[in-house]
Formats: sequence, C-alpha cells, structure tokens
Amino acid sequence: MSKLYITTPLYYVNDEPHIGHAYTTILADVISRIYRMQNNDVFFLTGTDEHGQKVQEAADKRNVSPKDHVNEYVKRFKDTWNKLHIDYDYFIRTTDRKHMNRVKAILSELYKKGDIYFDEYEGLYSVSEERFITEKEKEEGNFREIKRIKEKNYFFKMSKYQKQLISHINKHDNFIFPPSRKNEILGFINNKLNDLCISRPKSRLSWGIELPFDNDYVTYVWFDALINYISAIGYGKDEKKFNHYWPADYHLMAKDILTTHCVYWPTMLMACNIELPRTIFAHGWWLFDNIKMSKSLGNVVKPLDIADEYGADALRYFLMRNMVLGQDASFTLDAFVDRYNADLANDYGNLVNRIFILISKHFNNHIPEKGEYDSIDLQLIADIKKLQSSAIKNYNILKIHDAIENSISIFRKVNKYLEDKAPWKTIKKDKALTGTTIYIASEILRIGTTLLFPVIPKKAKEVLDSINSKPSDNTSFGKLTENSKIKIIKNIFPRIVD
Ligand code: MSP
Repeated sequence: MSKLYITTPLYYVNDEPHIGHAYTTILADVISRIYRMQNNDVFFLTGTDEHGQKVQEAADKRNVSPKDHVNEYVKRFKDTWNKLHIDYDYFIRTTDRKHMNRVKAILSELYKKGDIYFDEYEGLYSVSEERFITEKEKEEGNFREIKRIKEKNYFFKMSKYQKQLISHINKHDNFIFPPSRKNEILGFINNKLNDLCISRPKSRLSWGIELPFDNDYVTYVWFDALINYISAIGYGKDEKKFNHYWPADYHLMAKDILTTHCVYWPTMLMACNIELPRTIFAHGWWLFDNIKMSKSLGNVVKPLDIADEYGADALRYFLMRNMVLGQDASFTLDAFVDRYNADLANDYGNLVNRIFILISKHFNNHIPEKGEYDSIDLQLIADIKKLQSSAIKNYNILKIHDAIENSISIFRKVNKYLEDKAPWKTIKKDKALTGTTIYIASEILRIGTTLLFPVIPKKAKEVLDSINSKPSDNTSFGKLTENSKIKIIKNIFPRIVD
C-alpha cells in the first residue's frame, strides 16, 4: 500500500465559494477516490485562509470581531463541500491554535538561524494584494491600489536559496506541472530574487499571527498560510504522522498562485531543512463570460446552483469531463446541458433504465444466469477489457477527462450491443440466451459504474448498491453474482428539457 498526500489551496474565507474553488476541490476529491479505490493510504487536505487585511476590514464593516466573522464564514465552505460530496480527511483553518503555534515555532527557528532579519524598506505596496511589488510587476498592470510605503519590517532571506531552488527545478521534471509553466517560474527566479517581507506592523493590521520575537508585528498571510501543508499533518508535533505523509504528492491549485507555491514555499522549506513537495500542480481557469448570455436554464444563474437543481454528481461530471488538465475551459450552461444530456441522461441513464426494465419484467428482479458466450459476446467482453484498462491507466496519469471518456464508451458499446442482440425480441423465443445477454450487459454496467465512482460517487453508489456491488470491487469481467436479487432504481439522470 502506498500513500497519497494531496492538498487544495486554503481558500480566502471571505470569498463566497464559487465554481473555481469547487473545481480544485472536486479534482482533489476525485484523485483521492481513485487512489483509495486502489487501496492506497490517502490524506486529502483542504481548508481556509483566515488572516489578513481583507478579513479584518470585512469584520469591521459587519461590526463583528474577526474571530466571529471567520467562524461564521467558514461554514459556507464546509457546507458547499458537503453538498458536493467532498470526502476530505482534514479541514484546516489558519486560525486553528495548533497551526498558529507551528507558524510561531518556525518563525522563531528561522529568526534564531539568521534567516529572518529586520530592515527598513521603501517600496511599492499593493493594498488589494497585501504585498510589496516590484516596478516590473507594477508595469505589468495586475495590481491595484498601489502606494509607496517606507516601513520597518522583518524579511525572510529568500535570495539565499535561489541557486538551490533553480537546481531543484532543473533536476526534477515533475516538480512543476504542467511542464510549460516551468520556464515561467525559472524566468522569475533567474532574475534577481528579492528577500520576502514576512511581517506587517500591527499599527496597520492586527488580525494575524503575532511574531514570537516582536509583538508589534503580525505575520504576512502567505507565510502563515503556506505552512498549513505541514502543520496539518503534525510537523513538529507528531513526527510519525508527518514522516508518513510528507512530502506532499500533489499541491493542487490554478495558475494564479503558482509563483507563491513554486518560490516562497520551497525556499521556506529549504530554510527549515524539509524535503520539497513532489508536484506543484497548476490547472487552468474556468472562464465564465458566456454564462450571462445563456438563458436556456431560466432561473439557474450561479454555477453552484446547478448542484441544487441537477445534483452534485452532474456538476462534478461536467467539471471533470470538460476541462483538460492544464488548459482553460469555458463554463456555459449550454455546454453543461449538452454534456449532461449526451453522456449522463442518454448513454448512461438510458442504459440503466433499459437493463433494469428487462430484469424486472422478465427475470423477477434477479440477475439472470449466464450461458455460453457467442462471438458477439466475446468481442464485446474483449473491447470492454481494453477500455477498462485504458480508463485505469488514464486515471493514474491524471488524464481524468480521457478516463471518463473511456468509461462512457463502455456504456455506448453496451447500448449498441443491446440493439444488435435485441433481448426484448429474443425473450419470446429463447430465455436462456436472453439471460446471457442481460447478464453481460449488467456486468458491464457494473464495471463502467465502478470506473465512474470517483467522479459521480453518489449516483454510482446507488447503482452499485442496487446490484449488490461495491466501489472497491474489482473492475475485471465476471464478478456479478448470478441469481442475486436487485433493487430496481429508475431515472438516475433524467433528461434536461429546455
Ligand atoms: N488563500 C490563497 C491560497 C493560499 S494556499 C496556502 C488563495 N485563495 S483563493 O480563494 O483565491 O483561491 C485560489 C484558488 O481557487 C485557485 O488557485 C484555484 O485553485 C481556485 N480557483 C479560483 N478561481 C478559479 C477559476 N476561475 N478557475 C479555476 N480555479 C479557480 O489564493
């Protein structure tokens, strides 16, 4: 049994959870389920980023303390993940006492070691992003509310680790995914790498982790938040657990926060003498422009409402099937409806209906016995074997959209097989032969459903339960028990009609 440690970013607690947050978290959940199904020991971490200027301001505006504010707002994330069937192992909040103590311990250690120093700095500060920026970054135009600030602060000697980081990136092909982003990061660090300002004076911001060596300052939010990836698994506290799960196998995120993860985080780890994560994984953006133009679903406007209206599994399916990892994808209601109707309602839902109707009508709700296989049966079984092994291969190399396509092709093949064999006709003449056809179709329905379980866990479990099977059952042909009684379910993915 091997382990998988996978993380999502810690989302800003002030934000209302949206489709972008949902995508990364569902992706982490799908990957976790793929690994769990293959009996690996998985630790899936998500959580919220709860300190900083914006939280303090939002709490002030609402006339509540920052602590009450975050305690209330964190529920929106937890409820959303619940609704989307996210099975995380731990939800970390940067206001957790345990996490805060770890951040302080690391700050003390680095201060003692001389990797943190006090200095006066004059530079450009983006109030909206809460960080100092360079002239070049200002010119690129991605930062707002820029002020020139002269201030005494604490700095982390990031520049000291520049060479070591460049060499690590060059030596480890899997460290940054997709590889196309590697050059972007190398371009950033091959230039002069500045030290990182890791404090904020309390006169400006008090909602943060106080520096253990100077109580006039709090810790910069990124320095605080990144440490979650090690504090959550017991760094400095539960060495056994930490050594078991670390290094992280995947830090998932979108490309917006790749630099902080590929530059700040590894240099912080190097300073603490901790091994670097295996892969920092940046997926593309969901683009929403078209959504406002689509009126086809009437009152459904917010993407997360789709989960309420059509079920979380349908949303999970669409997000996983329509984004190629590493590339951007466009979210429109029309695309959602097209994908849902073609794959879930038509190829999958219809197949479930067809098989269950035949079993209830002609076999008294029992899986029929199988007889001799003819050449059409054998050809189908061989085709399914190939599709099943490519689905597993694609899942394991994280080509999730391809693995889904392989699984849906399995259903398409069975639909075609049923049309060729026409069991609704042969039943009148030859019950045993029809039984074999239906056994084969049901068994392949089980295989395809098991393969889709990581993506549509609730619906897949309903189908598997109804035929007395489990998601952890083997996906090779021949497991389904003849003569077992099934529970008839209907219309798992009803067609959406405009
Ligand atoms: N708090 C920081 C992360 C700290 S991690 C130690 C942060 N939070 S965030 O709430 O802004 O989350 C950013 C992440 O949300 C992205 O990296 C991505 O995972 C997800 N997404 C937000 N919008 C997205 C899209 N439109 N498309 C895809 N993913 C998106 O940054």
